[in-house]
Amino acid sequence: MRIGIIGNGRLGTALAEGFRRDGRHMVYLAYRSRPGRLEGVEAVRELPPVDVAILAVKPQDVGEALRQHRSRLEGTPLVSTAAGVRLARLAEQVDGGPLARAMPNICAAVGASTTVLCVQDDDPEGTRLVEEVFGALGRTAVVPCAQEDQLDAVTALSGSGPAYVYEVLHALAEAGTALGLDPELARALAVETVRGAAALAADRPAVPLDQLVRQVASPGGTTEAALGILRDGDLKGLLGRAVSAAARRSATLG
Ligand SMILES: NC(=O)c1ccc[n+]([C@@H]2O[C@H](COP(=O)([O-])OP(=O)(O)OC[C@H]3O[C@@H](n4cnc5c(N)ncnc54)[C@H](OP(=O)(O)O)[C@@H]3O)[C@@H](O)[C@H]2O)c1
Repeated sequence: MRIGIIGNGRLGTALAEGFRRDGRHMVYLAYRSRPGRLEGVEAVRELPPVDVAILAVKPQDVGEALRQHRSRLEGTPLVSTAAGVRLARLAEQVDGGPLARAMPNICAAVGASTTVLCVQDDDPEGTRLVEEVFGALGRTAVVPCAQEDQLDAVTALSGSGPAYVYEVLHALAEAGTALGLDPELARALAVETVRGAAALAADRPAVPLDQLVRQVASPGGTTEAALGILRDGDLKGLLGRAVSAAARRSATLG
């Protein structure tokens, strides 16, 4: 497939990297100010004819980008990744092709994004197309059009989620370094621990997450000492408020 990405910022570049890595599709990355330099990805000012276009600009730039690329987008399937911008608003600004929203995350760059899709009118052909496109970047899930509002929660949880995990990784690596570990080893241990913990949780979807916590924390042991501090600081409440704040922000962006 020929895929055109409009916007070569953080997400657009991550998507292009992911498609290049997957190797099945030809990718054009449309820029506004500066062409990106990504081997195997063609930087363009205007999109050539493509099979699907992905909009990866800030919500406030959506209108301008759609106007600029309007003639090319006529009749072309369009997928918007812009947080908060509803299908109804997009539909007012483009003519033709199937229309969808996608909420991926930057892990797309390494084929590890779980992308949630929402397709106008739940069109089966459009759904098949966007699942194929975003399937090249990891897993996909679909929410029905009637539940489009769920994308605000998805944006808050998994769209922004990598940043929360990096904050945790950063803190863990610094804590290890403060205890005397070599910074490189501390970083590797933090990253590999999160990778391993996620792999185990993914391997056992039927096991409740609090049970996995108990499998590490024996009464009176080292993990309990740490968990006591995290609970005193209300880590759960803090994360809950953080994700809610992101969802509220997403709901106001459209
Ligand atoms: N970052 C993430 O992890 C993430 C995750 C999920 C969803 N998203 C969504 O993805 C979208 C982009 O986010 P981002 O973080 O990648 O923002 P960003 O880094 O600011 O990138 C946006 C890019 O769009 C370009 N642009 C604006 N108007 C354009 C036009 N008319 N034609 C071509 N390019 C144009 C900008 O070019 P200039 O260089 O001229 O400014 C900029 O490079 C947002 O709507 C966001 O909600 C982001």
